[in-house]
Amino acid sequence: MLEGLRASPKRIAPKFFYDARGSQLFETICSLPEYYLTRAETEILGVHAREISDLIGPGCILIELGSGSSHKVRLLLEALQPAAYLPMDISRDHLLRAARLLAAEYPWLEVHATCIDYSRQLDLPYCPNGTRKIAFFPGSSIGNFEPGETVAFLRNIAQMLQANGALLIGVDLKKDARTLHAAYNDSRGVTAQFNLNLLARINREMEGRFILDDFEHSAFYNEPLGRIEMHLASRCRQTVQVGAQHFGFARGETVHTENSYKFGLDEFRDIARLAGFRPLRAWSDSHGLFSVHYLDAGPL
Ligand SMILES: C[S@@+](CC[C@H](N)C(=O)[O-])C[C@H]1O[C@@H](n2cnc3c(N)ncnc32)[C@H](O)[C@@H]1O
Repeated sequence: MLEGLRASPKRIAPKFFYDARGSQLFETICSLPEYYLTRAETEILGVHAREISDLIGPGCILIELGSGSSHKVRLLLEALQPAAYLPMDISRDHLLRAARLLAAEYPWLEVHATCIDYSRQLDLPYCPNGTRKIAFFPGSSIGNFEPGETVAFLRNIAQMLQANGALLIGVDLKKDARTLHAAYNDSRGVTAQFNLNLLARINREMEGRFILDDFEHSAFYNEPLGRIEMHLASRCRQTVQVGAQHFGFARGETVHTENSYKFGLDEFRDIARLAGFRPLRAWSDSHGLFSVHYLDAGPL
């Protein structure tokens, strides 16, 4: 985070949003009327759970990346009957709570939770030899990677899955700027709190002295680049101390906190192919807002 604050322009990677408070705020975002992503993806998984389960087959090891509250996977578990579920997330307390709840609700299911930063490592804590591995990566978190990193990240997943695995991935679609803008600028201001929590987190964990009222949430659709950009903008000229270091901000200067790239169906299939996947199926919701792709990791 300090490195990002020293950079020009200033930036902080979105993975730092997710401490316990950030994960809680994200849960609230998922239930907001403007945040169509969760509703649309839930619809797709609910409607197509049987077909998805038939493609995957029973007895797989189901690995969820960025599992958060593990809500969406519940739509698949009964139909899919995996041998084990491996939720992985960077937000440790939230992950453990979610994994314990799920394990209690599905006593027949083996659950192995791992706290990892998936942008750095993809180690499986449990993986009996020869069992088919399926990765589940919902929430369109793939859109947080830069175009150059996306293929490399998907390639790492393909490597982890090996030849008989597959990836089920949620991908947000390109759409009108108004719908996108509303999704990241909700009327209750929860997304703003989520964004500002980064500064609160620096205050809590790194002896930061950010005054939250001196910064404001800014999110907009950068149409030429096909991405929502999220920033924290300084309302005034100021210097902020973090530990022993000082960071100067001009009035209006921003810290770039997240990109959420949006994709066309074919655009994403091409990216998947570049990473070595075979796109077998893609579904979208009844309003055409969101997509879920089933990508086979087997050889072409
Ligand atoms: C956009 S939320 C999606 C949550 C959930 N999968 C869903 O679809 O609603 C992103 C999730 O990924 C986790 N996450 C973000 N960056 C991560 C990283 N680098 N490594 C592991 N988990 C990460 C967050 O803690 C959060 O739970």
